[in-house]
Amino acid sequence: MKTRKLLASALAGSMVLFAGIAPAQAQAQQAEANETAQARPWMDTSLSPDRRAALLLAEMTFDEKIAMLHGPMAMPFGPFTLPEGAIGSAGYIPGNPRLGIPALQETDASLGITNPMLVRGADDMSTPLPSGLALAATFNPEIAYAGGVMIATEARAKGLNVLLAGGMNLARDPRNGRNFEYLGEDPLLAGVLGGESVRGIQSTGMVSTVKHYAVNDQEHNRMTVDSVIGEADMRESDLLAFQIGIERGDPGSVMCAYNMINGVYGCQNDHLLNQVLKGDWGYRGWVMSDWGAVEALEAATNGLEQQSGEQLDQKIWFDQPLREAVANGSIPQSRVDDMALRILRGMFAHGLFDNPPERGAPIDFAAHAAVAQREAEEGIVLLKNEGGILPLAASGARIAVIGGHAEAGVASGGGSSQVTAPYRESSMVPLRSLPIGGEGMMAAWYNVLFHPSPPLAAIRERAGEDKVAFDTGAYPGDAARIAGEADLAIVFVYQPSSEGADAPDMSLPFGQDALIAAVAAAQPNTIVVLQTGNPVEMPWEQDVKGIVESWYSGAKGGEAIARILFGEVNPSGRLPISWPVDASQLPRPEIPGWGTPEGTPTRVDYTIEGSDVGYRWYAREGTQPRYAFGYGLSYTDFDHGAVRVSGGNAPSAAVTVTNSGDRAGQDVVQFYLTGKPGNDSIRRLVGFEKVSLAPGESREVTVRIDPRILAEWDEAAHGWHIAAGDYRIGVGTDAVTITDDAILSLRNRRFGP
Ligand code: BGC
Repeated sequence: MKTRKLLASALAGSMVLFAGIAPAQAQAQQAEANETAQARPWMDTSLSPDRRAALLLAEMTFDEKIAMLHGPMAMPFGPFTLPEGAIGSAGYIPGNPRLGIPALQETDASLGITNPMLVRGADDMSTPLPSGLALAATFNPEIAYAGGVMIATEARAKGLNVLLAGGMNLARDPRNGRNFEYLGEDPLLAGVLGGESVRGIQSTGMVSTVKHYAVNDQEHNRMTVDSVIGEADMRESDLLAFQIGIERGDPGSVMCAYNMINGVYGCQNDHLLNQVLKGDWGYRGWVMSDWGAVEALEAATNGLEQQSGEQLDQKIWFDQPLREAVANGSIPQSRVDDMALRILRGMFAHGLFDNPPERGAPIDFAAHAAVAQREAEEGIVLLKNEGGILPLAASGARIAVIGGHAEAGVASGGGSSQVTAPYRESSMVPLRSLPIGGEGMMAAWYNVLFHPSPPLAAIRERAGEDKVAFDTGAYPGDAARIAGEADLAIVFVYQPSSEGADAPDMSLPFGQDALIAAVAAAQPNTIVVLQTGNPVEMPWEQDVKGIVESWYSGAKGGEAIARILFGEVNPSGRLPISWPVDASQLPRPEIPGWGTPEGTPTRVDYTIEGSDVGYRWYAREGTQPRYAFGYGLSYTDFDHGAVRVSGGNAPSAAVTVTNSGDRAGQDVVQFYLTGKPGNDSIRRLVGFEKVSLAPGESREVTVRIDPRILAEWDEAAHGWHIAAGDYRIGVGTDAVTITDDAILSLRNRRFGP
């Protein structure tokens, strides 16, 4: 049995290796491979990943181990060329033909498979998912899983085997340029969805990361910023998201971040890497650095296993300097073994040896676009619907569509996550990509690329070609004239967002506020469709009847937006991030270090809000954001009954939800902790579930409450503590609007990290 498995996996591996070689030569090489397989006991799939990794490690020379611990970028960039053997994407760690260790072909992946600098050619298409905030707004773990499977399937067909996905930094500031890649401001929501996405990815036989560990919550001065935060605050917020995500997703790798945390860089942070991640959480995978995030050799002893994008660092620390340190005894050989072992174990555990990617396998783009479309449809949030202006009836009304490049596609975010050769139904469709300009290393990535799913075409399809007029919105006066001639106007606006830069404020750029104001003045029936990476100020909120947040909506965004507008889909997205009135409501009205040149040492004081990120902060301050976390309208109504709770060591909450309207729809049932001993202003999401209900239908929803969310981190005792007393659990339509609550009485309880 054992031998059969051994041969089967050796054969599977060699098929790939010898594809495309002449038959006689292939046969000879095949026979040789079979022999080699006998000598490769680690290819026995009946052994545990630990055993297999240990067997392989025992055969490796010191040089071979070192070779696994660092690697270059896998794209032509500035003076660097594509490394030999790399397929081309974000990073590359060469394989080892002597021992049959596959190369790590690493690609960015949060929102789809990237093709940086079009390294794999302009025709290498991928399906862009909607932004991370759109995913988070679905509140639907199944959608996260399905998206993970989809992008991993595309990666495999391109020969790539490590996905740099799983971004789950918390949205502490609605100006953060990377919030669009992440999953909002709540640790439970981010952890569950991030974990499910990773689980989906790895179910196909790939490694995924989670990133960027940790408290990497500001882009401005990201290489020199110090995130200052207390231990308990961090455990109850940013770290809790990672902890939940890692438990659910079991990622092969964790990517450490650029920033410092309490004065120590993320990739050499002994506390976060050795003590919390590997110690308290028992993490068995490997830590890879972000690209250019390794500042010193001490990273090796402080918990980093792999130096990625090594050309971007001052030195290739994990080559010569590491060799010398081992030679002079300052770093033990056993640490190098542990580093290589963790990488190998992750590769075995997640199928990199047994289930190699099939480069060139066909991709079912239409099916994948449907995955992206469903995510967009469930993530779009209806923010305002005065007088039930939406859904639009196919009534023959004349519609003016204005602005936002709606004739070209839907906006996307810039940076390493951007799917630069996106899915297009016809290669004849030109891609519109607007460079935002700017300087510095990331400038090449500052773009708004419009994925070619034009909302205008999708609206015309539904309303009739001759009923829909379009204006680019370049001149507000002209747009107002066209709006005035129609029965209603839909204004599309967008906000660029990119890795490497925060927005200076919360305004919509390019004069779009003035455009909306001009259109609204000319047309009382105005609907605004936002395409943003973050919440924005809305000086025109009272002047328009409808507001739809479509985020960055991906491969089929235009179709999804039109289906929401025309009521073919009932909106069910809920805000995964609080929507402030303006920046004065934030813990830090000014972005720390704003106005200083990139690279200026900058301190961000997260002790201000501590673990009270987003809605928790508003509850503590007693202020009201414009729209609360969890908010979102539907075309039907949902009633929630009385909350029922049950306690003990496995607390839970239940409620009956009824669709009391006349349309089928989906509700996100949300439970919050709204009071606990000594704290009446606390607010924490303790559970959520998305349910589909026909008109008149009722369903009982029960959620298990993660005790960590009820607890506080006790630093002295190094564990969680639930103080005895009454815990109030409410059900709400958002974090502010609680419709009923019940008391959960808990005993004093302590449990481990
Ligand atoms: C980003 C990472 C990304 C890496 C590789 C870095 O700039 O911070 O998220 O995975 O580049 O492209």
